[in-house]
Amino acid sequence: MNKILITSALPYANGYIHLGHLAGAYLPADIYARYQRLSGRSVLYVCGSDEHGVAITISAEKEKTTPEQIIDKYHYANLDAFQKFGMSFDIYSRTSLPEHHTLALDFFKSALEKNLLAEKEEEQFFDPKVNMFLPDRYVEGTCPNCGYDRARGDQCDSCGAYYNQIDLKNPKSIISGQTPIVKKTTHWYFKFQEFQEFLENYIESNSHIWKDNVLQQTRSWLKAGLAERAITRDLTWGVKLSELPELSADKSAGKVLYVWFDAVLGYISATKKWAKENLDDESKFADWWQNSETEYYAFIGKDNIVFHTLIFPALLHFKGNFILPKNVPANEFLNLEGQKFSKSRNWSIDVRDFLTDFPDSNYIDALRYSLLMNLPEQRDADFTWKDYQAKNNNELAAIFGNFINRTSQFLGKNFNSQVPKIDERYIGEWNDFIKYLDDNFKSSPNLANSDNFTFELFNDNDKLVVLSLWQGIEKSKAFLNRFKIKEAFQEIMNISRAANKYFNDEAPWKTIKQNPQETAKTLYTSTQLTSSLSVLLSPVIPHTCQIIHSFISNNSEIGNPNKATENENFWDKSKFPTLNFEQHFEIKNILFPFIEDKTIELQVAKLGNLQKNNEPKQEEIGVIDLISIDDFRKVQMKTAKILEAEKVPKSDKLLKLQIEIGTEKRQIVSGIAKYYAPESLVGKTIAVVYNLKPAKLFGIESQGMILAAKSADGNLSILTTDQTNFESGAEIS
Ligand code: MF3
Ligand code: ZN
Repeated sequence: MNKILITSALPYANGYIHLGHLAGAYLPADIYARYQRLSGRSVLYVCGSDEHGVAITISAEKEKTTPEQIIDKYHYANLDAFQKFGMSFDIYSRTSLPEHHTLALDFFKSALEKNLLAEKEEEQFFDPKVNMFLPDRYVEGTCPNCGYDRARGDQCDSCGAYYNQIDLKNPKSIISGQTPIVKKTTHWYFKFQEFQEFLENYIESNSHIWKDNVLQQTRSWLKAGLAERAITRDLTWGVKLSELPELSADKSAGKVLYVWFDAVLGYISATKKWAKENLDDESKFADWWQNSETEYYAFIGKDNIVFHTLIFPALLHFKGNFILPKNVPANEFLNLEGQKFSKSRNWSIDVRDFLTDFPDSNYIDALRYSLLMNLPEQRDADFTWKDYQAKNNNELAAIFGNFINRTSQFLGKNFNSQVPKIDERYIGEWNDFIKYLDDNFKSSPNLANSDNFTFELFNDNDKLVVLSLWQGIEKSKAFLNRFKIKEAFQEIMNISRAANKYFNDEAPWKTIKQNPQETAKTLYTSTQLTSSLSVLLSPVIPHTCQIIHSFISNNSEIGNPNKATENENFWDKSKFPTLNFEQHFEIKNILFPFIEDKTIELQVAKLGNLQKNNEPKQEEIGVIDLISIDDFRKVQMKTAKILEAEKVPKSDKLLKLQIEIGTEKRQIVSGIAKYYAPESLVGKTIAVVYNLKPAKLFGIESQGMILAAKSADGNLSILTTDQTNFESGAEIS
């Protein structure tokens, strides 16, 4: 009982994860997983890289390298970024692993055996120039459904339609740019139509809990009627059918599984790997996937809906004994500063770039928080840097952080940084009040009130704040059950607000003079609220809550918010007072330092700035952009003799050189003033680019460029000929 299996869509290992991805399928799933763990459920959270398919081979071609290099580069980069961002995967696997291939082929084999595959000869686009078939993203054209003119061969990004490639209008090969020809090839087709009724029943039996956007897309597919789908491709990269001994070599040669067929099975192969590594028994994956006590939730972005609501369930069903997703919470898209994310326009924020600029955990938690509060749960949403700053400054710092730091400081000044000792009856009253609320208002927390509860010690502020705590916890649970994650944590944030207000209204700095017992109670309550909030907000801001916890951790009652214990429901326990009298309580950090305008402006300025972001990335993996000899010949270089050299007035970098190139005289302005005294240059034979367009530097015309080398430590040396007095005007090749 109480097993919760969670997956996030496996991202293609062909690019860096950006904030849009996080908001779609990763952050909400992580928050949900952390919440379930805190609630005492046994959770397995699985993810990994999707490493097959044309998305990968196209990236390899673009970066002029191999698919293997591409997936290694991005798998490890994304794994690292996810870890730093605080994703609490139990495993982050890869679909290129042999174990995954074995599993995917086993599904294929079962489908064959169960007569669910049809072999068919069909027409496919073929690019004669590069002599290959053009599956999926290798062709672009006009969508037969909506007319979008950059639709891909397998799917339209604009309307979400998913069609037979041959139906694409105005097809163009993305390799050669030419119109492909149509050629026959044989493929295996999955008899998807045989699952029509089964899937209809499955969807309708869940319709009361699934999100509208998910139901709509799924139902419209079902309404159109399911049809056979080719599940193999003519490609060299992927799960190769030639690895399956049951198929004859001539049939399987050059065929791989369609990426979607194998990718969704990646969740299962990842679980097997987890079971092998953690339980020393691969077959224990079945405790999760083949166990009717498991609830399975598949978190995805909206472009993956039917693969998870129809195709994956069909595969799980025919294979036998597998459970199906109980919910597929798909998010809409996140925009960035009002525009779509676009890597090619550099309108994106890669997680790794964010982490480079903001490595400290408070910034990472603030990102988690601001993304959460902008989750595209019902409709597309927008991330802006201004909002990131505002969420940090006005909410995390001004409300949550402020409350905790005020509590801790006041305690430091007046109570020796210890949880005050107070009348035990106050704690009894707190406990009783919670039980009263649990008994009377669990099913309608909105209506909860304290009208019929008799208080002895609580004043109005105490009543209000404990009621807020109880309500926040109950309401958040109800929202989380419906995957309204943003709303759930708005409720938790309201507890922070109530706590901050409580501290203000109680005004302990005043009571301390006339009524120190009252002050002790205020501070006892405030420390307890801090402790509860550090549990309740830990799914969202885990790093910060860990810090708070480490400062108040000598209390064994309260669990480490990041390491929940099975069968201990810390979510519910957070309603009750649990801190010990006189335990040390001192939060030494400013939890959320203020973010300045300047910091944000710098980030905004980076968006859309193409050069900076694209260039260094190539060097990083040591992939060199190779050029042909013809490219090289475009640059004409010649020897030149320096006749005169002088400083450019008002510039500390530039020298103006008069040079001779054979019989020709030219003037070149060069940024070498810091490295050479002008007079030391005269008479040297150097190398210049001869056919560079003239340009003006500091208003002075420069007719060419001299070649120089710069060392890593910043030293500079101009290139000169090996023989002194070598003639000028000689061609360099
Ligand atoms: N790689 C796909 C994407 O990024 C998602 C695959 S989800 C899986 O759109 F379930 F198939 F793994
Ligand atoms: Zn379309």
